[in-house]
Amino acid sequence: MALVTTKKMFEDAYKGGYAIGAFNVNNMEIIQGIVGAAKNLKAPVILQCSKGARDYAGLKYIVKMVEAAVEESGVPIALHLDHGPDFETCKQCIDGGFTSVMIDGSSLPYEENIALTKKVVEYAHAHGCVVEGELGTLAGVEDDVVVEEGNESYTRPEEVEDFVNRTGVDSLAIAIGTSHGAYKFKPGQKPQLRFDILEEVGKRLPGFPIVLHGASSVMPEYVQMINEHGGSMPDAIGIPEDMLRKASSMAVCKINVDSDLRLALTASIRKHFDENPGHFDPRQYLKPARAAIQDVVEHKMKNVLGCEGKAE
Ligand code: G3H
Ligand code: 13P
Ligand code: ZN
Repeated sequence: MALVTTKKMFEDAYKGGYAIGAFNVNNMEIIQGIVGAAKNLKAPVILQCSKGARDYAGLKYIVKMVEAAVEESGVPIALHLDHGPDFETCKQCIDGGFTSVMIDGSSLPYEENIALTKKVVEYAHAHGCVVEGELGTLAGVEDDVVVEEGNESYTRPEEVEDFVNRTGVDSLAIAIGTSHGAYKFKPGQKPQLRFDILEEVGKRLPGFPIVLHGASSVMPEYVQMINEHGGSMPDAIGIPEDMLRKASSMAVCKINVDSDLRLALTASIRKHFDENPGHFDPRQYLKPARAAIQDVVEHKMKNVLGCEGKAE
């Protein structure tokens, strides 16, 4: 099996009321942990690489490791550029073998976002690659952002329709209340997602795949493990799993998770060194860390995404 685009994955996910997990990769152990879960559960999966991950590992290393994972796993895998910042980065990834790219023009004025996204779509489609765009800014948790001002960054459904029609983009990330990182909400704050926006988008563009960024649940067991083994993370609240499950049953076909993987990896390594202070062979601590990644991904696939068995 070769790398695939997300086209059929999303068509099936939309019809079936589930979502595909898009997990960020930076090294071999993370790739192996994610793909081990996908293989075990017979689930399609998206491996996504940020510009930062590409600068860290090198484009060629990422592509070759992912190609090895494809050969080993036997499940459909797409290789996606996460948060592509400009045309040139998208082009390099398309030329380098990625099957999907995101062009993140969300911080640009609307018409500039359209023009840039359209340019990437034209190049990508001519090379058999699909494109994710972004419209709206993910709701932030900055201290000085009051709720009313936060509302302004939510995506407007009427703009989604116009944006998709004018750019030809294959999927779109929208802002309905998620945010990036491990500190999404303040202690005591109640997480809320704007399902009304999602519903309206679904009515205006039936069958069109929507993407949720910033969708880690910030799994408390790993935050606790980090703190029990020498770390000091403040209380962190993520997106509740039942909300993500509901979103997956609606127009959301791709759910991005990075922070939960970072937490699991770090918690596992901290625990290992706490319990084995004399160890210095990387295999001794990277093996359980890789297993922790696999556990998290299996948990997401079963309880959040609903994509278990969908590669059969
Ligand atoms: O949304 C961003 C992802 O978590 C990737 O983060 O740019 O630090 O690799 P990064
Ligand atoms: P989290 O920080 O919630 O894991 O989101 C990751 C993401 O959106 C990557 O694009
Ligand atoms: Zn993101």
